[in-house]
Amino acid sequence: MGIHAIVGGQWGDEGKGKIVDYFSADADVVARYQGGANAGHTVFIGEEQFILHQVPSGILSPGTRCLMGTGMVVDPVALAEEISELQDRGIDCLKQIGLAYNSHLVMPVHRIMDGISEDHSQDQTIGTTRRGIGPTYADRHARRGIPVATMLDADRFRAATKEHLRYANTIITKIYNQEAVKFEDFWDTLQQARELILPMITDVSHELIQALHDEKNILSEGAQGVLLDLDFGSYPYVTSSHPGTVGVSVGLGVPSNAITRSTGIFKAYCTRVGEGPFPTELTDESGEKLRESGGEYGATTGRPRRCGWFDTVLGEYSASMNGFTDICITKADVLGAFEEIELCTSYKNQDDSFLNLQQIENVQPEYTSYPGWNSDIAAAKSFEEFPEELKSYLEAIERKLNTPISIVSTGPERTQLVMK
Ligand code: IMP
Repeated sequence: MGIHAIVGGQWGDEGKGKIVDYFSADADVVARYQGGANAGHTVFIGEEQFILHQVPSGILSPGTRCLMGTGMVVDPVALAEEISELQDRGIDCLKQIGLAYNSHLVMPVHRIMDGISEDHSQDQTIGTTRRGIGPTYADRHARRGIPVATMLDADRFRAATKEHLRYANTIITKIYNQEAVKFEDFWDTLQQARELILPMITDVSHELIQALHDEKNILSEGAQGVLLDLDFGSYPYVTSSHPGTVGVSVGLGVPSNAITRSTGIFKAYCTRVGEGPFPTELTDESGEKLRESGGEYGATTGRPRRCGWFDTVLGEYSASMNGFTDICITKADVLGAFEEIELCTSYKNQDDSFLNLQQIENVQPEYTSYPGWNSDIAAAKSFEEFPEELKSYLEAIERKLNTPISIVSTGPERTQLVMK
């Protein structure tokens, strides 16, 4: 059976949560493989909205095992809060979640360092979510991070926390001239989170290899999007992990040939939060209209998202690098408000063999116009029911990305999905 990977094809916020939730109904296991509390996956059940940050989106399907893989950086305090919010809403999820012993902890001081670094990096602010993601991955790669398994031994955990704080405070006080963080200010809260999390610690790789052996139905859930990949995105305006299909294997400890399907999730237009190049960005009324019609405000930070037209140059880059077997287009209903829709089909004078994402701020997008459909597609049940204008727009994306569309999402609710 293998692993079905769900991957964000753009700059994140494509609506992955809803698609993972849809496939979770038949999944035995849902596993997140990178990122942390920087993600905000929104799922609607009826009128009820759930925003998941670290817990995999499969949690709303009772009985689905939800694994948080080695490639993640886990904020224990935020995780404890997220779990207790789910419990308050009647979702008793403690036994459903497994946390990789070798994923790394986002310590309270990592969050503080993320904020300080953003506030003091004069001309190169990344616009991070300030959830401590970058500083935690940096410590992990420099081999001074704190793996989750450290929590299993109370004394070791305390000593590691103190040592880590000593190091972090040197940077905070000496480089940034800020006040040192005090151990007493966060230790009790961290301890309470530890108590809750301890029973969840597991060997995620081992569980998944067993599940593969047992031919279980496994989904991997990506956070952020391919264009924010540390190496293959618009560096340095990226996150610190690998949101694409390439991240699944190392983020979960499974062989790469275990991935048998990879579905790329794309919004029918484009959005981006934070700084960095965005060739098709609309800074005029159309951008504002997209933001308002699409409710384009960050699920984690509430920041207004930058909006623009669909970019098939970047779409093709992302689809081919990630080997998408199929794609899913979300928020198609939002474009219903437009008379004319532009699709970026090329960049002027672009050399196809070398798309340097670090320098795409200078490209000039070339567009093909598509007539709008001026109607509400929220109630459509099949692709055939869609207006012809929408079908031609979607088919143009399919052709450009050289990948078939399998699903079109027509509204926020769980049921508003059209299979192609
Ligand atoms: P970080 O991941 O918080 O370090 O932020 C780095 C960049 O990734 C910033 O531009 C963020 O806005 C962006 N980013 C991080 N997480 C998400 C997400 O879940 N959706 C969209 N953008 C994100």
